[in-house]
Amino acid sequence: MQWNSLVALALVAPSHALIRFGCSQLTVDRIDPLVQPGQAPSTHLHQIIGGNSLNVSMYPDNHDPPALSTCTTCQASEDFSNYWTAALYFKARNGTYKRVPQKGNVGFEGQKGGMTVYYMQDSLGDYQQKSKVKAFQKGFRMLIGNPAVNNKHDADRYPQLTYTCLQDMNTRYPETKDFPAKPCPAGIMTNVRFPTCWNGVDLDSPDHISHMSYPINGTFEDQGPCPDSHPVRVPQILYEVIFETGSFNKAADWPADGSQPFVWSFNDQTGYGNHGDYVFGWKDDALQKIMDEECYVNCKTMKTQSIDAMNSCNVPNVVGEDIGDNDWIQAIPGQMHE
Ligand SMILES: *[C@@H]1O[C@H](CO)[C@@H](O)[C@H](O)[C@H]1NC(C)=O
Ligand SMILES: *[C@@H]1O[C@H](CO)[C@@H](O)[C@H](O)[C@H]1NC(C)=O
Ligand SMILES: *[C@@H]1O[C@H](CO)[C@@H](O)[C@H](O)[C@H]1NC(C)=O
Repeated sequence: MQWNSLVALALVAPSHALIRFGCSQLTVDRIDPLVQPGQAPSTHLHQIIGGNSLNVSMYPDNHDPPALSTCTTCQASEDFSNYWTAALYFKARNGTYKRVPQKGNVGFEGQKGGMTVYYMQDSLGDYQQKSKVKAFQKGFRMLIGNPAVNNKHDADRYPQLTYTCLQDMNTRYPETKDFPAKPCPAGIMTNVRFPTCWNGVDLDSPDHISHMSYPINGTFEDQGPCPDSHPVRVPQILYEVIFETGSFNKAADWPADGSQPFVWSFNDQTGYGNHGDYVFGWKDDALQKIMDEECYVNCKTMKTQSIDAMNSCNVPNVVGEDIGDNDWIQAIPGQMHE
């Protein structure tokens, strides 16, 4: 090996950690334990991954995911957190709907639905991951985005909620704030990045957002500083949710007026209402230990399980309605028929 490559290797040796792992579907159900605890059905359908202690009324004072879960759908076997987003529908020309299935990322082809989760200290492309972060604490929850948003101006308040139109499974840009306007051969990937500055005190807040903040200027990626009100830098969580649109990409099935046919389960056809929810549930200090290790994706301190084990974890459906996985349905669950 040449001297130059040795220097290069030494320079890219990471100081801290970035992890990336697949999680299979835990359930697809009309529950929303963070925003509408105790309510079943909730107002819209979600796709949920993580620990099987998920339930409709998981209040922080009596809910300890690592203690109550007996399995997790995540490859990271000490992660009993729950992660969720809305579900996605395809609207046919005749006004009926079918739910769009999800698929795993490259390397997780065998996983059942679900998504890919990242925790990082610096931007995804930074192999050094040098900036210190404090892992989330027991009882921590948050959400980002707002299903009531239906225009670009308001969506820009959540700058890091985007879509990638997958030409193939490795496409990563461009990202758009609204749904892709044309068929995406390998699927539509939703990117949900959470804010990275915590107020250091509150595990949650009434709107589930305001205990968190984006950097005061710049971005997480360019190491923008956290505001004084939210001084604690936490890992950036990123969800990549890949919707397998393959069977819905025929031009003849798309609306005749040139619009796009995908619609979120809260009846948003713009895509601007993109949002995600997070309930922390790592065992003990497992997440902090991983974050403090020097590694990039392949982190020895992250205990893992097989894809079969991920796939075999699930919870019973609570609402038990037809969500349009097999037959075309007249209306999205809980939404008015248009
Ligand atoms: C939901 O979880 C709580 C603990 O957080 C528990 O007290 C309750 O019994 C659970 N409910 C169901 C239906 O499992
Ligand atoms: C509505 O459209 C879908 C998709 O083209 C089709 O499979 C279904 O049979 C149609 N339903 C009715 C009632 O025409
Ligand atoms: C961002 O804020 C920090 C702290 O107030 C300041 O030092 C820095 O110059 C600012 N950067 C930009 C690009 O405004």
